[in-house]
Amino acid sequence: MCGIVGYTGINNAVDILLDGLSHLEYRGYDSSGVALMAEDKINIYKAPGKLSNLIDKLKEQDKKNITSKTGIGHIRWATHGLPTLVNAHPHSCTCGGLTLVHNGIIENYKEIKDELESKGVKFDSQTDTEVAAKLIAQNYAMTKDLVSAVSQTTKKLKGAWAFCVMHKNEKETIVATRKNAPLLIGVGDKENFLASDIPAIIKYTKKAIYLNDNQIARVKPNSIEILNEDGTLAQNKIEYLPFEPMALSKMGYKHFMLKEIFEQPDVVRNILQDKLHDEFNKISLDDVKLDKNRLKEINRIQIIACGTSLHAGFVGKYIIEDLTGIPTDVEPSSEYIYRNTIADENTLVIGISQSGETADTITAIKQVKQKGAHVLIVTNRKESLLARLSDSLFHVNAGIEVSVAATKSYLAQLMSIYLFAIYMAETLDINPKKVQEIKHELLTLPAKLEIVLSNAPKIRELAKKYSGYKNFIFIARGINYPTALEGALKLKEISYINATGYPAGELKHGPIAMLDDTMPVLAILNEGMVYDKVMSNCEEAYARQAKLIGVANFIDDKHKNIFEDYILIPQIKDMVSPALNIVVLQLLAYNIAEYLGKDVDQPRNLAKSVTVE
Ligand code: G6P
Repeated sequence: MCGIVGYTGINNAVDILLDGLSHLEYRGYDSSGVALMAEDKINIYKAPGKLSNLIDKLKEQDKKNITSKTGIGHIRWATHGLPTLVNAHPHSCTCGGLTLVHNGIIENYKEIKDELESKGVKFDSQTDTEVAAKLIAQNYAMTKDLVSAVSQTTKKLKGAWAFCVMHKNEKETIVATRKNAPLLIGVGDKENFLASDIPAIIKYTKKAIYLNDNQIARVKPNSIEILNEDGTLAQNKIEYLPFEPMALSKMGYKHFMLKEIFEQPDVVRNILQDKLHDEFNKISLDDVKLDKNRLKEINRIQIIACGTSLHAGFVGKYIIEDLTGIPTDVEPSSEYIYRNTIADENTLVIGISQSGETADTITAIKQVKQKGAHVLIVTNRKESLLARLSDSLFHVNAGIEVSVAATKSYLAQLMSIYLFAIYMAETLDINPKKVQEIKHELLTLPAKLEIVLSNAPKIRELAKKYSGYKNFIFIARGINYPTALEGALKLKEISYINATGYPAGELKHGPIAMLDDTMPVLAILNEGMVYDKVMSNCEEAYARQAKLIGVANFIDDKHKNIFEDYILIPQIKDMVSPALNIVVLQLLAYNIAEYLGKDVDQPRNLAKSVTVE
């Protein structure tokens, strides 16, 4: 959700900024821009669309002649105003002496804009960001100090922001501040960096300072001065970044998404190696601070998350309730924060987030912390803001996921939830038989995942056959209902085909009206409690001429003929089957999108980290 970078030092800023932005493209790709400090002015270069457009533009201008050592950059995911050149960041004051990049949303920008316009200030863009540039410039005219001007300005703003600001009179200086949006300072030798996220700077430094909400930093090549909101000097500690410089390579795959789908057996292997070696020994989770006494006090669990992580949460409800008997609710974070939710010190709140920086989930977690709930964060980014807010942490450890559509991180989230549910049951000494059974099934997963992946050519054929359809319904019952939701989401996200996930039993209460031979129905079936029921729903769909696609570990002979096509997965107990079924649906979505020529890794309008509410 917008990425920002900054550099001041002894090297050529433009190269470092462009390289940094290339590692933030997962945050948005509507436009990009850089501002570079020159002798007595600031030069700005922007382009709509992907970063490659900006790089091409700079090439035309002969990048070699741009030798600035201080600059800021931005990659945009549009919130206010179309994804056009005029709305691209950096934004400037009227005289061009001050410029800034912003990630976040200024909620009260309209009233500030009206006020400024009534005083004759002219605006070029439709963005919320431009009001901050104009306001800081006005304050700078009075104070002649950029830190004071930024501080005065942010006191007037409502919403969320990370800003990097430059003024032509303050040489080699970037002023940065944040509130409810990520920003870190990379600490170098005679050079310093700013970035929304670690990958943008990890190639240059492994040391960083995290800014707290409302702190302001004056960053120069040889100094970093940080002030608290009240103006006192802050002493933020330097932390060591947990990353190796990443070779972001597709390893021969056409897309990152396909590579990440195929990494899943190894992702599961890693998690098992780390936490579950056999069926008989108890799981221990170092960063989970819930012992037997504390767990006994927990009388309700709430899972909050967004997007794909929310679907992992839905699976979590089935597992946790089955293994522990503790009532568990699941809710999108964006809904949770706008009602009077009931949580207290006997509530365990599980926040699930791949990125650890989704704004809605952060707000929800801050709310429940105030109510005294114990917060467990399940995330792929253990240095993220959400991880920092946690009482207990489960690092899902899926490795960096580049494709905007989540795949391996989802599977790793499922694994984390299985293991956490087992941990709770074992700590509470309940359900030993079920626990042992699930452990056994989890240990067999990597090999079974390999088998599912070996079916990729067949799934590719299916994708070709079904790529012309405009609508799909995915149905399932029980623990695979969330798999239907996630499978439909994957297809929507990357192919733009209208796909809906539905509980199979609800088909007859409405969606069945849409069924005919233009609407494929994909049914997830697993031998177990709900097999016969889902099969009845398949019969109902077949009777309406819908093309039936089965994803199943078993289809009985008398029903095989009602399926137009089916994919068989290895035998697996119902409880763990979402971890296998989803892989078929990921491959189906990937191949349909790829066949249709869509931009699989960077689907339109989406971003991997959503840092606005
Ligand atoms: C965005 C991404 C989704 C992701 C969701 C939640 O919408 O495109 O893939 O599931 O955010 O993100 P989180 O990082 O909190 O899991």
